Amino acid sequence: MNIKSAKFVKGILAPDYILDDGKPQVAFIGRSNVGKSSVINSLVQQKNLARTSSYPGLTQEVNLFLINNVFYLVDLPGYGFVESSKSARERLAKLVHWYLFESLYKQQAVVIIIDASIGLMENDVDMILKLEKKEKNIFIVANKVDKIKKSEYKMKLQDIQERVGHHVVIPFSAKKRIGIKELLRAIFGK
Ligand code: GTP
Ligand code: MG
Repeated sequence: MNIKSAKFVKGILAPDYILDDGKPQVAFIGRSNVGKSSVINSLVQQKNLARTSSYPGLTQEVNLFLINNVFYLVDLPGYGFVESSKSARERLAKLVHWYLFESLYKQQAVVIIIDASIGLMENDVDMILKLEKKEKNIFIVANKVDKIKKSEYKMKLQDIQERVGHHVVIPFSAKKRIGIKELLRAIFGK
């Protein structure tokens, strides 16, 4: 898959005609601050297409990026951001839940991003189980591998793979641009 063009289309908070336009959707989900927006930017080779921040909780809408005029990358708010207010957390969780589990939109793939230097957390496991129940096509991106010590790399990735079972785990670094080809190939088969 060669990404030739990418543009932000809109951020939505509720059902929207655009999600019914028949174009495939590839969604990115994960804990707050793991680098969902950064991974999208690395795939499209633009620094600031999706807004990123060192402060968690930045993405607050279902943001749609149209790629090659044929499919959408969907940037979602993160989960598990403990420092935000309860009401803000619930609002974001509701939005993600609606998009992934209640709406009838069928994502071509759901990419779960984790911080490889931290590993799989309980809320990641919960998310994987819920996506499995809905029979979503899941891929795991282990982002921020640049932060792992060389001596710990093998063990950390093995541990992640064991805990996610049969799902494909792609070692990734949005910062160092590692894993881009592998992720695109996993999702699109080319
Ligand atoms: P929310 O929208 O708040 O849920 O966050 P997000 O998951 O979209 O994370 P975002 O892309 O905004 O990145 C969060 C922080 O992690 C930023 O400071 C990024 O620069 C940093 N970051 C993202 N990817 C990498 C990576 O591969 N390596 C390193 N070292 N830092 C990264
Ligand atoms: Mg984000």
